[in-house]
Amino acid sequence: MADVKKIAVIAGDGIGPEVIAEAEKVLKKTEEVFGYGFETEHGLFGGIAIDEKGTPLPQETLDLCKKADAVLLGAVGGPKWDNNSKELRPETGLLGIRKALGLFSNIRPAVIFDCLKDASTLKPEVLEGTDLIVVRELTGGIYFGEKLRREGAHGEEAVDTCVYNVQEVERIVRQAFEIARTRRKKLASVDKANVLETSRLWRETVNRIAPDYPDVELEHVLVDNCAMQLLRRPSSFDVIVTENMFGDILSDEAAMLTGSIGMLSSASLGEGAFGLYEPVHGSAPDIAGQGVANPIATILSVALMFRLTFGYHDAAEAIERAVKEVLDAGHRTGDIAVDKSKAIGTTAMGDLIVNAIRK
Ligand code: NAI
Ligand code: MG
Repeated sequence: MADVKKIAVIAGDGIGPEVIAEAEKVLKKTEEVFGYGFETEHGLFGGIAIDEKGTPLPQETLDLCKKADAVLLGAVGGPKWDNNSKELRPETGLLGIRKALGLFSNIRPAVIFDCLKDASTLKPEVLEGTDLIVVRELTGGIYFGEKLRREGAHGEEAVDTCVYNVQEVERIVRQAFEIARTRRKKLASVDKANVLETSRLWRETVNRIAPDYPDVELEHVLVDNCAMQLLRRPSSFDVIVTENMFGDILSDEAAMLTGSIGMLSSASLGEGAFGLYEPVHGSAPDIAGQGVANPIATILSVALMFRLTFGYHDAAEAIERAVKEVLDAGHRTGDIAVDKSKAIGTTAMGDLIVNAIRK
């Protein structure tokens, strides 16, 4: 048996525990089929942690994450805590955990499953073969720069400052090059170098380190053009790397190519192999407790963990193949079903995928 990997499992609230339960079944099946070993430990987080511990991110949960090889997160949030003060809101725990774990990039794959092409608002022939990843810088840029309000000559003014240093750019661009290497070896670096100084620094940095990755084909794309090309030729992208705000917008645009939020996985990475993996969707309070949530986003987040943190590409492929097989056979949860009366529940979908995982 390979060395045992420690996974901190943080289910959160709403549909979090429901979809995480299915992902844990996938972990167990992977152990049986591939002989990998996982040790899971559970921690409280979000609304449940507020209720039981008086804070969205208890120290013991953070300690659990820090000693793990990877974190698997469900979702947090809900109307019950919406009117709490900032430090007692589940979302504050999300920002806190990313910061405390030094996670500086957010990775979002957008993959089209051929049998779900109809779920998208784009034409099937445009989407055909789309399989891309957006790598977004998470800790710098205009969201974190100095902000101020002041009285100007024409009334009140507001200022947001965008700052990037060379080291922040280099570490995420290197990470994106490395990810491209494990895929189709194409990297699109997105900036606004015709206007912004931070973007010029970004582009210079990319060009300086590109010779270290001669096997990866690099293109520079201006952000406004990228927004257009994502709708026009999504299948031509492999890995897209960009700064925080551009990445925030482009990753949401890319997500919508696929049609359903219940299908989208994500990772947040720092230095080294450690990563936090979670579905893109939230806690879906409107359907929580009904057993109808789509577990596929969380299950695909496990596959992403296998690829990016553990290098278990065989098991990752097996999970992705199992998902495809189950969808191709026509099984659907409510969010992706055309005929809602035939939709299956969270557990049934999880069981079908688990049963389809093989070498
Ligand atoms: P949401 O993603 O929870 O739900 C949006 C819509 O998509 C809802 O109609 C929901 O039923 C549906 N949906 C989401 N995931 C689904 C799944 N797996 N299967 C089937 N349908 C699914 O976003 P919303 O409603 O804006 O936020 C709800 C709560 O979640 C809020 O408190 C928000 O702050 C929090 N949130 C947490 C995130 C996280 O934990 N990373 C991310 C986004 C929102
Ligand atoms: Mg966003």
